[in-house]
Amino acid sequence: MRYLIMIGLAAGSFFTACAQQPVDPIQPFHYNIEKEVTVPRGAVASAHPLASRVGVMILQQGGNAVDAAIATQLALAVVYPGAGNIGGGGFLVAHLTNGRNIAIDYRETAPAKAGRDMYLDSAGNAITQLSIDGHLAAGIPGTIAGIFASMKYAKLPFSKLIDPAIKLAAKGFAITASEAGNLNAARADFERLNTLPTAFVKEQPWKAGDTLLQPELAHTLTLIRNKGAAGFYEGETAAAIVAEMQRGKGIITADDLKNYRAKEREALAFNYKGYTILTMPLPSSGGICLRQMMGMVEKYPLATWGFHSPRAVQLMIEAERRAYADRAQFLGDPDFIKVPVQQLMNKQYITSRMQDFEPMKAGSSTLTKAGVFPESTETTHLSIIDAAGNAVSVTTTLNGHYGSKTVAGKAGFLLNNEMDDFSVKPGVPNMYGLVGNEANAIAPGKRMLSSMTPTIVLKGKQALYSLGTPGGSTIITSVFQTLLNTLEFGLSPANAINKPKFHHQWLPDEVAVEADFPDSTLQALQQMGYKVVKRGPIGHTEIIQRTPATRQLTAVGDKRGDDSVAGF
Ligand code: GLY
Repeated sequence: MRYLIMIGLAAGSFFTACAQQPVDPIQPFHYNIEKEVTVPRGAVASAHPLASRVGVMILQQGGNAVDAAIATQLALAVVYPGAGNIGGGGFLVAHLTNGRNIAIDYRETAPAKAGRDMYLDSAGNAITQLSIDGHLAAGIPGTIAGIFASMKYAKLPFSKLIDPAIKLAAKGFAITASEAGNLNAARADFERLNTLPTAFVKEQPWKAGDTLLQPELAHTLTLIRNKGAAGFYEGETAAAIVAEMQRGKGIITADDLKNYRAKEREALAFNYKGYTILTMPLPSSGGICLRQMMGMVEKYPLATWGFHSPRAVQLMIEAERRAYADRAQFLGDPDFIKVPVQQLMNKQYITSRMQDFEPMKAGSSTLTKAGVFPESTETTHLSIIDAAGNAVSVTTTLNGHYGSKTVAGKAGFLLNNEMDDFSVKPGVPNMYGLVGNEANAIAPGKRMLSSMTPTIVLKGKQALYSLGTPGGSTIITSVFQTLLNTLEFGLSPANAINKPKFHHQWLPDEVAVEADFPDSTLQALQQMGYKVVKRGPIGHTEIIQRTPATRQLTAVGDKRGDDSVAGF
């Protein structure tokens, strides 16, 4: 399905074909947003058409899904600066055809000079803006370390994977209408929060089709191409980050950067009615919460009740409430605190959490506490499945849109504001309204708790779905609902991601629904006693489905953004 045709967006295209040269598959000034494709060999779904095309080009050149995921992420860092990044972090979950499951954690960490009270004033009040904007909001970026940790599963040389991103940064590309709007909206912040001029501000307001040129980012990417991870964490790039920190009273040091490590973790896997759900463990809360919510609804006849029926929606809301209460109490970086993971994932415990569930009656977050046992919104997701059946699901983030809105000086990339994902003070909500506790308090070197939930669904050994979404605190509920929309309610991939979503996160005690959520269900929820509030779009889910009988891949990009798919 083709939504928007962008032709002749800029005066000149450096990729423009001429008679003697082959046509470059990446046309930075002539591209379409494709919402759905069904293809036999390989598919990529991401937040930007050019990034999805880069991923497919890598598959066509003989790369596997991991190669394509690396190249797509690097391209997103250029063409989708609001969330694509090298100055942030993320998680990669993969299922390889050799049977291996992979989870790579490249979440940002708190700088060595960070402390639990760093965002409190002398009276102990939280100054929450400090963890959201500017130099102090940034954690140590993990993306480049994650990409090099992923390289061990890739087939192609790294230079092949990063070259498209370098080209896009150096020669520019035509921006979409939504990117133009976002850049204009952030202009005052870019001017306030940077000490040097940035590529994201120009004299006249941005408009669709304008060329975004990022020569400094191209130079940084070239250093990474030539020197590997050291091209980012050491030398010129590290010096540029540290210099920007010093000019802006930030606290990231050269040692912080040199000491950063990505970690390979054991992917979290659980069974749901014969499917294996493969997802991200801590420091993402996503996997544990997803396991809890799926476990809480499993015994109910959701398919019979029907999609968006008041009964089904209410049950799912109550599962969401309980999982988010546990999240606030127990979850944090497992390398720093003892998290009772086995208990939280225990079937009996999960069932016991629903003992006080009253069908068709609103629960209460005052009464629902975390369980007891013995003892921005902005992020971006990409999904890939290749011809062999390797599946990759990556969610990566700067946290808020354009992160801290601070560029790493001459290195030309935006730094994250991931420090806001810590609990700056027990009970004080972060930018997503999430509260936390001791478990997610700030400590040097600690990873802040995430909600990112890159997920793969297996039947036997075959990957049937790769999915995930941005959306801050709503990520987990979006993945939960997308899974039930397909596995229980039988919706097509397009309907599963595009139909209106709802969200409950324990506190505040309200159900947030998208504007097109059905009125009849909304009124039924109000009659049950729920406070229902309408809100803007929830997530931008990307999904790829493999149909086992035909082995065809259907890739769908969310209707809510410039999300776009490609395949062959
Ligand atoms: N920054 C959003 C998340 O990691 O949950």
